Amino acid sequence: MSTTRQMHLGAVPYGTGGPGSHTLWLDPDIPVDASVNVEWFIEMAQLAERGKFDLLFIVDSQFITPHSPPHYLNRLEPLTLLSALATHTRNIGLVGTATTSFNSPFNLARRLGSLDLISGGRAGWNVVTTGDAGTAANYGLDEHYDYDTRYGRAQEFVELARALWDSYEDDAFVRDRATGQFLDVDKQHVLDHDGEFFRVRGPLNLVRSPQGHPVIFQAGDSEQGRDLGASVGEGIFTFAPDIPSGRAFYDDLKTRARDRFGRNPDHVVIMPGIQVVVGDTDEEAREIEAHNHERDHSFAAALREFGRPFGWHDFTQYDLDAPFPAETLRHGERSFYTRAKELTQRAQDNGWTLRQAVEATRVRRKGEFVGSPRTVADKLVEWWEARACDGFNIGIDHPANFRRVVDEVVPLLQERGVFREDYDSTLLRGHLGLPVPKNRYTAASAVLSPVVGG
Ligand SMILES: Cc1cc2nc3c(=O)[nH]c(=O)nc-3n(C[C@H](O)[C@H](O)[C@H](O)COP(=O)(O)O)c2cc1C
Repeated sequence: MSTTRQMHLGAVPYGTGGPGSHTLWLDPDIPVDASVNVEWFIEMAQLAERGKFDLLFIVDSQFITPHSPPHYLNRLEPLTLLSALATHTRNIGLVGTATTSFNSPFNLARRLGSLDLISGGRAGWNVVTTGDAGTAANYGLDEHYDYDTRYGRAQEFVELARALWDSYEDDAFVRDRATGQFLDVDKQHVLDHDGEFFRVRGPLNLVRSPQGHPVIFQAGDSEQGRDLGASVGEGIFTFAPDIPSGRAFYDDLKTRARDRFGRNPDHVVIMPGIQVVVGDTDEEAREIEAHNHERDHSFAAALREFGRPFGWHDFTQYDLDAPFPAETLRHGERSFYTRAKELTQRAQDNGWTLRQAVEATRVRRKGEFVGSPRTVADKLVEWWEARACDGFNIGIDHPANFRRVVDEVVPLLQERGVFREDYDSTLLRGHLGLPVPKNRYTAASAVLSPVVGG
C-alpha cells in the first residue's frame, strides 16, 4: 500500500442514460439495451480496470415512472451484476448501492459478504436510505419512513451488518482431514441483537473475506446523512460544483469524523461525482460539451425530473410563468428533502417563476473538467491538492469519452505521481488506504489475554 497521498478514481456507468441524459442511448457506441447487458458492463469494468481505477460504482433506485431516465426504466440489480463482474475482473473494487430502508440486515449482510468473497475482497456498499419515496409502495408500506427513522435504521443496520460479518473468527474453519475437525465451535459467535429497529440472532453463515468487511460508502447530505457518513462511512460519495463548496463539505465531514466520532479522518475517503469531457483541444471539448448539453437537456424532461426530489411530484400541472409554487416542498419531506429544500430556497431567494427554477437546473455552468487531456488532468489535480476531495467518481456517459479518460488523462496523472501506475493490492481497502478491521471477537480475546502469543 502506498504511503504518500494518492488520488482515488471511481467509474460510474450510466448505461442508456441517467438523470439529465435521456438521449444518451442514441449514441451508436452504446448498446440500446446497455443497462441490462452484462457484456457492456464487463467491457466498461475492464476498461476502468485498465485505467487502474479504484472502483466501479453501480447506483440504484427502485421506483420508476413512465418518464424516468432510460437507465432507470430497465436495469440490473447491483449486487447480482457486481457478482458477475467480479468473475471478469481481478483488481478493481466493486461498489453497489443497497438501501437500509427496504432490506433486512441478515439478508443484505449475507449478499454483500458473498460478493466480497466472490471478488476476493473487492466489495463496497453504498449505504442509502432511499430518496425515491414511491419505493415504499413496492414494499407494502403506505409511505416512506421519516428522516429520523430512515437514518436511525441505517445506523443500526450498518452496525449490525458489521457485527454479522464477524460471526466467524478468521481461523474458525480448521478443515483438518487428519483429525476430522471442520470447525472450531468456539470461534463461531451468536449475536443476539435486539435493537430499536431490528432483532437478529445470528450467526451469519459466511466466513469473512480477506478484507474483513466490505467497504462502507455513504452519500446522504442532510445533517443525519452527514453524521451517518462521519460515523461509519469509509468512502463518501457527494456532488460539488466548485472547489470552495468541495472544501467546505470535505472539512465538515472530516471534522465530524474526528471530533464527534473519534475516527481517523484519513479513513474517510471523499469522492465527488463528476462528468469529464475530453477533446483534442479545450475548444473542441467545449463544443462537445455544448452539443451534448443541447441534445440531452430538453425543457420537458427537465421539468419532469425537477419533481424527483419532491417525491416525483408532477410540476407540469402548474403555470410555468407564475411564482414558484413553494408549497410543493411538503411533497419532498420523505424524499430527497435536502435537495428539495435547496431548490425551493434558491427559487424564493431569486423570486423565480417555475420556468426560471427549472431553467436554472438546465443551464449547467460550464463544467469544471472539460478540455484537452492536460487541462482535465490539471483540474483534477487542482481539486485534489486543494483538498476539495480525495478523488473522483467519473460518470461513464459516452464510452468514447471514457476511453480518452483512461488512455489520455490517467497517464498524465501517473506522470505527475498522484495516481498509481499499477495496483499494489488486490483489496478495495488496499486501493483506498483503509485498514482491514480486526474481527471483534478475536480483538476482544486478545485484550482479555494479552500474554498469549507474547
Ligand atoms: C453521489 C451520490 C450518489 C447517490 N446514489 C444514490 C443511489 O444510488 N440510490 C439512492 O437511492 N440514493 C442515492 N443517493 C441519495 C442519498 O444517499 C440520499 O438518500 C438522498 O440524498 C436523500 O438524503 P439526504 O437528504 O440525507 O441527502 C446518492 C447521493 C449522492 C450525493
